[in-house]
Amino acid sequence: MSTEDPGTEQPTDEAPATGSHEFSQEDRKAHEAGAKDSLLRADNVVAGYVPGVNILNGCDLYVNDGELVGIIGPNGAGKSTLLKAIFGLIKVSSGSITLRGENITGFKANRLVAQGVGFVPQTNNVFPSLTIEENLQMGVYQSPKKFKQSFEFVTGLFPALGDRRAQRAGSLSGGERQMVAMGRALMMEPSVLLLDEPSAGLSPALQDEVFVRTRQINRAGVSVIMVEQNARRCLQICDRGYVLDQGRNAYTASGKDLAKDPKVIELYLGTLAKA
Ligand SMILES: Nc1ncnc2c1ncn2[C@@H]1O[C@H](COP(=O)(O)OP(=O)(O)OP(=O)(O)O)[C@@H](O)[C@H]1O
Ligand SMILES: [Mg+2]
Repeated sequence: MSTEDPGTEQPTDEAPATGSHEFSQEDRKAHEAGAKDSLLRADNVVAGYVPGVNILNGCDLYVNDGELVGIIGPNGAGKSTLLKAIFGLIKVSSGSITLRGENITGFKANRLVAQGVGFVPQTNNVFPSLTIEENLQMGVYQSPKKFKQSFEFVTGLFPALGDRRAQRAGSLSGGERQMVAMGRALMMEPSVLLLDEPSAGLSPALQDEVFVRTRQINRAGVSVIMVEQNARRCLQICDRGYVLDQGRNAYTASGKDLAKDPKVIELYLGTLAKA
């Protein structure tokens, strides 16, 4: 019979099949120190879609005011699930989400939006039968009086949305729709924006535009947490990055350091790293 305390994981020399390493006590301490005055933080988040089946197995993440944070990792790692857990779309079974010191775990999306959290989901993120302007109106349905001022803010960042305000979103290209989706989330002038794979499915030129726009939104004072398949590009623009693997933090460092970490290159940046 084992005498090990089942509550503490013993370090092993053998890495899991993917090569990701468990977050160590030191990593947790660094998270605690870094997250102390953060804008938004997730601590030890365990969550999933079906009771008893956890997809996230204890994720940590934080974003400071003004930061652009990237999340990369293989398909199915739990990146979208983490954003959904932060945004109250799935139940967090343990751990916590904190916004400016307030525990917001389990808060519903409308409340989070009112408190300054914006979310752009990975798919189905515009209302195709509505015009651009109507889509942007949906972004401030909780505070319609904000429309005029917010419309100016958003069309300042995305002038094309103003020029084409009467066009139906369903008739736009993928890249243009992504701008509408981001614009809608920005209408409440959030302090933090959660973006799930904004460059997915776009041509290389439009992907570039998405990254440039994201940086621009961040420079306009909005903190950003961005999930991206285009890992190398994401690490180039983010201040700090997280690699998620199998529902856990695998690596975290500045975007630059992650992009040159041989383990991260080997495991997560693939052939792109050689480009
Ligand atoms: N609505 C759902 N119901 C049940 N399981 C789900 C649901 N959505 C995702 N999952 C499962 O959760 C796991 C993590 O999925 P998630 O979408 O978070 O991955 P991801 O890292 O965003 O991947 P990708 O890069 O493909 O977008 C996967 O095993 C997936 O099958
Ligand atoms: Mg995803």
